[in-house]
Amino acid sequence: MKVKVLNLKEGMLLKHPVFSNELVLMDRGQVINEKHIERLKHYHIHEVDIVSDKELKLREIKEKEKIIKEEFKKAYKETVIKTKELFSKAIDKDVDNKVVDSIVGDTLKNLEKNSDIFLTLLSMREEGNYLYEHSIKTTIIALSIGKRLGYKDEELKLLGKACLLHDIGMFSIDNKVLNKKEKLSEKELLIIRNHTKEGAEILKKEEEVVRLSALHHHERVDGEGYPNKIRGEELPEIVRIVSIADIYTALISDRGYREAKDPKEVITYLMQMSAKQVDTNIVKKLLENMSLFAIGSYVRLNNGLRAKVVKATENPFRPVVDVEEGDKFERIDLSDRDNALIYIMRLIV
Ligand SMILES: [Fe+2]
Repeated sequence: MKVKVLNLKEGMLLKHPVFSNELVLMDRGQVINEKHIERLKHYHIHEVDIVSDKELKLREIKEKEKIIKEEFKKAYKETVIKTKELFSKAIDKDVDNKVVDSIVGDTLKNLEKNSDIFLTLLSMREEGNYLYEHSIKTTIIALSIGKRLGYKDEELKLLGKACLLHDIGMFSIDNKVLNKKEKLSEKELLIIRNHTKEGAEILKKEEEVVRLSALHHHERVDGEGYPNKIRGEELPEIVRIVSIADIYTALISDRGYREAKDPKEVITYLMQMSAKQVDTNIVKKLLENMSLFAIGSYVRLNNGLRAKVVKATENPFRPVVDVEEGDKFERIDLSDRDNALIYIMRLIV
């Protein structure tokens, strides 16, 4: 924002450096005081670039978001440790519901605090913790879907528990089979598929839907899944949510044998699967949380500007973006009617 030196006020923030005959009179980021104003007048500078109030506010928001993200990262690492303890105890003995409640409760709190920043954690990866992280990430996604479906506290807790524990049977599989990079043999495939039954056995004393989620999360709407080829509509909704969250998490994660897909590819894939293999309504709710363009990725807008995707909206094609290029520094909600003429051309990689 250009401001005449005559109109400068103390406390304003300089956006660009000011030169006089190649001499830097003032550097960018300088907070203007009386002396500076006098100096500018002395050098016959008439106009300078000032950071606008709108920009200042946005910078403040971004600073706060950075702090929240750091908090979330820390909490995520602690959750990985808690999940490890929970699983080892559950396999030998019982499910510690206190730990489940604390993990699910924290996840819900963080989703409430700032779901967009929280969902960026899905790209985090802790070496050697794939199965634990898979359970946590799936729970984050399932709970965000549950919230969109209007689930109340108790239902969300149950969904969180079912999701956190759905793959617990995987821990009874030999690491050699689990980490194998080559194609699995028929026998090995059966061992892997058996994690559903193993899981249900470990969870036999838990709530019915928790046990069913372990047993049936690989069933598909068209009855082509495993272990029982049950059709989707015969399964409780919680199991169907766990199932989709599980597919989504697996696809966005890097595994030894294949690279992670871009969230845009994943959603296209889910849309194709939708109707035949997964529940369309639940996929829709997932899409409401996830922008087609991953949060944190960079895109090119039709006005030529580069922008960063910062927030999902109800329209997966039109997220909220931050433009940070040249003099432009603003946050644009592409789902807002006022911005109907602006759209995303492509992803920048
Ligand atoms: Fe599974």
